[in-house]
Amino acid sequence: MTEKRARFGSRFGIIMAAAGSAVGLGNIWRFPVETGNNGGAAFILIYLISVVILGIPLMAAEFFVGRHARSNTATAYRTLSKSPFWGNLGFFGVIGATLIMSYYIVVAGWVLKYMVLSAEGLLTTVGKGQETTTVFEGIFNRFSTDPVNPIIYMVLFIIICHISIVMGVQKGIEKFSKIFMPVLFAILIVLTIFSLFAPGAAEGLSFLFHPDFSKLNSKSILCAVGQSFYSLSLCMGCLCTYASYFGKDVNMVKSAISISIIDSFVAIMAGMIIFPAVFSANIDPQAGPSLVFIALPSAFLQAFGEWPIICYMVGVLFYALLVLATLTSAISLHEVPTAYISESWHIKRSYAATIVTVVCIIFGIFCSLSMGIMGEIKLFDKTIFDLFDYTTTTLMLPLSGILITIFIGWKVKRSLFVDELTNHGTIKSSIVTFILFVLRYIAPFALVITFLNGLGLLDF
Ligand code: PHE
Repeated sequence: MTEKRARFGSRFGIIMAAAGSAVGLGNIWRFPVETGNNGGAAFILIYLISVVILGIPLMAAEFFVGRHARSNTATAYRTLSKSPFWGNLGFFGVIGATLIMSYYIVVAGWVLKYMVLSAEGLLTTVGKGQETTTVFEGIFNRFSTDPVNPIIYMVLFIIICHISIVMGVQKGIEKFSKIFMPVLFAILIVLTIFSLFAPGAAEGLSFLFHPDFSKLNSKSILCAVGQSFYSLSLCMGCLCTYASYFGKDVNMVKSAISISIIDSFVAIMAGMIIFPAVFSANIDPQAGPSLVFIALPSAFLQAFGEWPIICYMVGVLFYALLVLATLTSAISLHEVPTAYISESWHIKRSYAATIVTVVCIIFGIFCSLSMGIMGEIKLFDKTIFDLFDYTTTTLMLPLSGILITIFIGWKVKRSLFVDELTNHGTIKSSIVTFILFVLRYIAPFALVITFLNGLGLLDF
């Protein structure tokens, strides 16, 4: 099995695929919302510190496990430990990725619908004026609570992921990422330029880049840590699975650094696109998750309404950007259970992918319906959609992080780790010592606090 295992074809492909996993709704949707909620630039600063101190070491650790084992994430941990506890750590990823995928595709379906709507002239047909937010609110609420329409878009979206997965690692995942990611960067740059001409540009940029430390509290710090983990796709098996397709000569520490830079860069650029428009329209930057579907179209309309063509382009490009970002992330989530099922059950990749697609569609239908007709069904006071999000992001992600850092920091032989990350001593890397230090002493502690806070057991 080891001999025949698929590989990524090039370094560029590796970076695009892994950055594609990282860059997603987390950057363009969650990051601006959290930045708005937590006071702007000071939050970004903490976020970046968390990426450097915690994110990069954990990414390198996941790369280590994947490339060392050269297998799916569940089997990978078993090759490192015979203990039933540590050896089964990889299952967290398989289950976590499936659950994230199940609600991620619901939002991805909305994004796809909004790309179509804006191509049809969403932003140019709604009249400019005070009532736009109410109009957009109506459009979004009608669509997201509909029992059929969002499910159709969700299924369409997952079919695209499915196709890329079935086409294989090099011809599917890598090829799609090598096309989608550069297009995504190009759109990002065009939108940022437009945004700099919006009437609220100065205010928006100052909100993003002038830190107000008085707005920071322990909650926002923990939120920044959680956000950095989510945004970098950590602890859910995606990076471990992708690393199992890396060649032996890949410099994994350097790759982790490049991917983290790209991911943070995209998040900040997304902020540069969103906040000028938000300030032009006098919208509260704390508008919450509806920001992207309600406040933002309204903000774009008010910022660029004088120039209908630009306004039209901004709408189409922005939702196309979101579609590309969600696609590459969803592909990486899909690959985790697909690789596991196909390798452990010894079945064809296409059959395994079909099982995953069907399971995610079933879960996704419940998540989608919980926006409307099943909205009354609540568990622990949460709708089904919120429950999927909370269980994965707030509980499973930090818990899996705690266990991975303890396992690699304390249980795995140091020489094995150093050997793999330095490509058997061929790359000099003093950072590896720093990475081990973080995995042993800093990350478990930071993650335990984040986890307890998420559970509500540690309220500041
Ligand atoms: N990083 C992705 C985003 O920013 C989400 C994700 C989380 C993907 C965990 C894979 C694993 O949207």
